[in-house]
Amino acid sequence: MQNILEAIQSGNASSEDFANLELPDHYRAAYVSKDDVDMFEGLTTKEKDPRKSLHVGDVALPELGPGEAYVAVMASAINYNTVWTSIFEPVSTFGFLERYGRVSELTKRHDLPYHVVGSDLSGVVLKTGMGVNNWKPGDEVVAHCLSVDLEGPDGHNDTMLDTEQRIWGFETNFGGLAHIALVKSNQLMPKPDHLTWEEAAAPGLVNATAYRQLVSANGGNMKQGDNVLIWGASGGLGGFATQYVLNGGGTPICVVSNEEKAAIARSMGAELIINRSEEAYKFWNDENTKQDPKEWKRFGAKIRELTGGEDIDIVFEHPGRETFGASVFVTRKGGVITTCASTSGYMHEYDNRYLWMNLKRIISSHFANYRESWEANRLIAQGKIHPTLSQTYTLDEVGQATLDVHKNAHQGKVGVLCLAPEEGLGVRNPEMRAKHEDAINRFRGV
Ligand SMILES: NC(=O)c1ccc[n+]([C@@H]2O[C@H](COP(=O)([O-])OP(=O)(O)OC[C@H]3O[C@@H](n4cnc5c(N)ncnc54)[C@H](OP(=O)(O)O)[C@@H]3O)[C@@H](O)[C@H]2O)c1
Repeated sequence: MQNILEAIQSGNASSEDFANLELPDHYRAAYVSKDDVDMFEGLTTKEKDPRKSLHVGDVALPELGPGEAYVAVMASAINYNTVWTSIFEPVSTFGFLERYGRVSELTKRHDLPYHVVGSDLSGVVLKTGMGVNNWKPGDEVVAHCLSVDLEGPDGHNDTMLDTEQRIWGFETNFGGLAHIALVKSNQLMPKPDHLTWEEAAAPGLVNATAYRQLVSANGGNMKQGDNVLIWGASGGLGGFATQYVLNGGGTPICVVSNEEKAAIARSMGAELIINRSEEAYKFWNDENTKQDPKEWKRFGAKIRELTGGEDIDIVFEHPGRETFGASVFVTRKGGVITTCASTSGYMHEYDNRYLWMNLKRIISSHFANYRESWEANRLIAQGKIHPTLSQTYTLDEVGQATLDVHKNAHQGKVGVLCLAPEEGLGVRNPEMRAKHEDAINRFRGV
């Protein structure tokens, strides 16, 4: 890989130079192994340790298919989906790979006894397959994680509805936590040129997800002045949701679990903050029995106290079972709850009387289509939305990086250096960077 890294770092290699680089037949990658899927049997979710299941080693470079590209990965980031893959919950991702492998001769490549994970990257295009016209070797890129085929009619209004829609590096193989990644060329987007490799890689999945869930007409369709309740406001998704609300003229009501996280939300410009640990909400009397509507009311009263009596127009939901009943309750008449996840459990319970009598709506949202991802990345490139990178690990430390996210011991996004030998490289527009330096570094060193 040294020749590839040298070409990238030289700063003057042409597209032809990149096209002529010899590619290795193996590359270094972070992967889980099919032999390990039962390794955590009998342990609780919290006890399952990604450091034991995530391996870093050499894997074979897959064949390059039509419409695809190899990308030399300079940096990647940890997403919660790598937590799920590494603890084999709620299901092992090898089932996804087996199913994908049955689709065609070409997709069989993905069905392997190892799964190279990771759904974000920044890097440089090394080689493109047949039919790729918009990208060429040497292009500096980021990749969004939507993999679609679009052979059938279903995805042609909104590609998220394609019957063969998958999340790259989670439901497909050859993900971004590696030195080389295999992507479809319609996952590629220009790398924001004022950012380092690790800063450019980090927003990807969560930025586009938050954009669709909150801003897009496919999600919350947020408008100026909306009160938006954001769970986990300094986390992966929440760090971007908070920025979108402020950028779009709304009022974020940020829920966080400690004072450090509250300080981050404040530094982004949020004024209305609820520390859920301090308030000690107990929406469930006990984990498996009934919820306590008195606690929903106490939470709603706290929101009114902060907003001067107003209720919530949009709830940005993802914790799921633990919070969903409260989320439905505190939404205003006619408001929406947008949900993309269930971190604390996927069997939700809420009082439907509050929903239907008050004409509230629950809107499901999942990642983002190419257009939405492009718009979200463009806002980063324009310096209107900023990365939320708090810390960076090396590829060899990927297990620890994933454990941090699993334990909710992180802020914003956790980055991973892949080919990049150190942090701080890859900035092509230092003048623009200088204008946004404080905002870019907001989550650093907390
Ligand atoms: N469908 C999609 O396309 C999509 C995309 C991205 C992520 N996701 C899913 O969304 C979830 C969050 O992802 P993320 O990247 O934002 O993760 P993250 O970085 O861990 O942030 C989630 C935040 O939620 C808060 N939280 C966790 N458990 C909670 C609970 N029981 N009650 C209230 N708040 C809780 C925590 O903040 P505090 O401790 O400060 O409250 C945490 O920082 C994951 O399940 C992930 O798989 C789905």
